[in-house]
Amino acid sequence: MSKLIVANFKMNGTKSSITQWFNDFSMEKNISNEVIVALPALFLFDFADNNISVAAQNVSSHSSGAYTSQISAEMLKDCGINYSIIGHSESREFLKETDEDIFNKYNQLIKYSIKPIICIGEPLKIREDNLLQSFISSQLKQFEDTDNELIIAYEPIWAIGSGLIPTVEDINEVSELIRGLCKNVKILYGGSVNEENASNLLNNSNIDGVLVGGASLDPKEFANIAQSC
Ligand code: PGA
Repeated sequence: MSKLIVANFKMNGTKSSITQWFNDFSMEKNISNEVIVALPALFLFDFADNNISVAAQNVSSHSSGAYTSQISAEMLKDCGINYSIIGHSESREFLKETDEDIFNKYNQLIKYSIKPIICIGEPLKIREDNLLQSFISSQLKQFEDTDNELIIAYEPIWAIGSGLIPTVEDINEVSELIRGLCKNVKILYGGSVNEENASNLLNNSNIDGVLVGGASLDPKEFANIAQSC
């Protein structure tokens, strides 16, 4: 079955470096998995017409109004964007986003038929204190009743950008928990995915894809990841 391979450029790149990235990536052959690239908001419109899907990295929880600096789901749709990450731990931390904000963002996206990629994941302390199950359950609470197909990216905060990665057993435990809570769900794993560990992750039938930060910035490495299953 085809897997979903999502690049998260975070706040990296310029119009010319991203153009170069797409040129280099499109030279890579044999990618049968679905690829999505989450770009800085300013460049979404420039790359929306690409033959590779692009995603926003966030969206406002409001529909319109006096929210200086924010971008609405309607604006994303207007620019041809069909996916958006929400709930990334960096947005939760730096923008003080709550689970309620993230659910409001989800509803805004659904209203405009944009597919949300919902990030969840625990800080190390939660795992060490054996609070993982209740922490993940509370992040997913508001999504339990929906019949919509959800894309949930499990990204343990301690694994992001650290080179650390959970064991297969740890990932399977969380994936089982997510599938027990949400009816119709695709599960991505994110956190220090690279060309060395991607094959192990993508050949695990419990996960449906990966969300790749740092290693996605190199088009060759990202292509190797996308080809590893
Ligand atoms: P990383 O980031 O691959 O650099 O660990 C993943 C993410 O934050 O989405």
